[in-house]
Amino acid sequence: MKSQHITWQDQQVTKWERQQLHGHKSAIVWFTGLSASGKSTLCASIAQKLHEQGISTYVLDGDNIRHGLNKNLGFSPEDRSENIRRIGEVGKLFVDAGILTFTAFISPYQEDRKLVREMVEPGEFIEVFVRCSLEECERRDPKGLYEKARAGEIKDFTGIDAPYEEPVNPELVIENDQQDIGTSVNQVIDFLRERGIFT
Ligand code: PPS
Repeated sequence: MKSQHITWQDQQVTKWERQQLHGHKSAIVWFTGLSASGKSTLCASIAQKLHEQGISTYVLDGDNIRHGLNKNLGFSPEDRSENIRRIGEVGKLFVDAGILTFTAFISPYQEDRKLVREMVEPGEFIEVFVRCSLEECERRDPKGLYEKARAGEIKDFTGIDAPYEEPVNPELVIENDQQDIGTSVNQVIDFLRERGIFT
């Protein structure tokens, strides 16, 4: 619950002025998809490629954030929602700072993603659905988590015994089990350029 007796302080430098300084717009590019669908790899590659082109980027990644800011959260529906809400708020700060921010979270619930979309201004939330079949994610299983989930050693694992709600109307869909990483990276970068995020 929000405390009483708190007052919003405006800053001297505006978001627009920070974007001018960086030479491009800021936004949250929100990657959602099953574990092992390729969200983190895609975000890291795109952020690096854009960084080399002089664009200020940052990646917020599920596993990393759960080591610090969200280390008190588990994988119940309530904790996942709180995880996404906090990331939304952090992402909003990054947008205000003028940074093009990529987020790699399973974010399995439509409602949670919608709440983040509503936290920022229209056009500042770009939802990217990293589509990859459960079969392919399980085949990859880079951390051995699907195997553990199938064996009952991990409970509430997304796609096994916890739900994943696919985006209904995402800005972009990446068919990540049908094309190579380079194609997917270029697809996202081309989309962001067409959107006018950078030139
Ligand atoms: S969520 O649903 O958005 O709150 O999850 P997220 O913060 O993205 O964290 C997902 C990573 O946590 C590991 N992990 C699990 N994932 C799904 N379900 C369960 N029960 C679980 N337990 C641990 C897993 O490594 C996920 O990483 P990715 O990169 O998605 O594979």
